[in-house]
Amino acid sequence: MDLLNPPPDLYGRPGPDRFLRRLTAFSDWYNPSLGRPLLRRRPGLPPARPTPPLPLAVTRRTEIATDVVELHLASPFGDELPAWQPGARLLLTLPSGRERHYSLCGDPADLATYRIAVRRVADGGGGSAEIHDSLHVGNRLTARRPRNGFAFCGEPAVLLLAGGIGITPLLPMAREAQRRGLDWRLVHTGRDAASMPYGDELRALDPRRVELLTDDRDGTPDATELVARAPKGAAVYCCGPAPMLAAVQAAVAPGAALHFERFGAAPILDGRPFALQLGEDGPRLEVPADRSALDVLREQRPDLPYSCHQGFCGTCQVRLRSGTPEHRDRRLTEEDRAAGALLPCVSRAPEGETLVLDL
Ligand code: FES
Repeated sequence: MDLLNPPPDLYGRPGPDRFLRRLTAFSDWYNPSLGRPLLRRRPGLPPARPTPPLPLAVTRRTEIATDVVELHLASPFGDELPAWQPGARLLLTLPSGRERHYSLCGDPADLATYRIAVRRVADGGGGSAEIHDSLHVGNRLTARRPRNGFAFCGEPAVLLLAGGIGITPLLPMAREAQRRGLDWRLVHTGRDAASMPYGDELRALDPRRVELLTDDRDGTPDATELVARAPKGAAVYCCGPAPMLAAVQAAVAPGAALHFERFGAAPILDGRPFALQLGEDGPRLEVPADRSALDVLREQRPDLPYSCHQGFCGTCQVRLRSGTPEHRDRRLTEEDRAAGALLPCVSRAPEGETLVLDL
């Protein structure tokens, strides 16, 4: 795996994502939400042993900023937790059954505790509200082992750019950069100081290398000015909302190393209106050019599960009965697609097409 040249579409560029598919298959010997093994075994080999879910308990809960709660998670049996590296995410299964990804923001050297921070999303799918309203010290939940699609490569000079809660994967990167003696800078942007967690922890690493910019004091940040803070020849790591990522992508010089992770839904590129039909006789739903099929489906079926909203976790998978889709995910194999699998969080159809779903 070439970490210095991450897979194109994971970082927003077009291209097949064999890396992520292999990584996903490696870490998920079995995906219960799909109800079937993901790894294809060579004939004659014994069946793969599924990796059991990781049991976790909430051991600490702290409000660390406006609408941001930090959770400490540990094995309820005192077991050591699987190791992880800066940039890794944890897929949590909440008590309701919802699955959500969160970046680990603690210290990778601490194998007794995972730390995550969750911002309440008022108009989200209920995952952050469940954590804020219902998850308390002592509650149990499960997770899959940490996975990393945003690996820190440890270049000699790095600029870390965080928007809002996007600070979470960058905090362990800053810690690692400081530990290795790299030439690093971190800029954290946010609405106001009260909404931005981990300022003290970052400044404790090296206050000269950390800058906090708030909209109320400094105005809306300009991506070109942010990127201009990079040490000479630095690699840029960015995590934040889609508009910030798009602006930073445009501002980074061609050929410069840019690693990024977005949270929330991927932007819809070249979307055209099409229709969904639920079963042969079910309701017909119009999908406008600027909305995802999943969002439209969830208005009819609010319990339809989803997680990443970016076409890589597979949680939202539905079955296609007929119609010609445009697969835009990074998860399904050609065989999956031929068998009718569709990930409606990102996949669409040509204009005027109707996709009939098994729902
Ligand atoms: S929600 Fe993750 S693939 Fe659709």
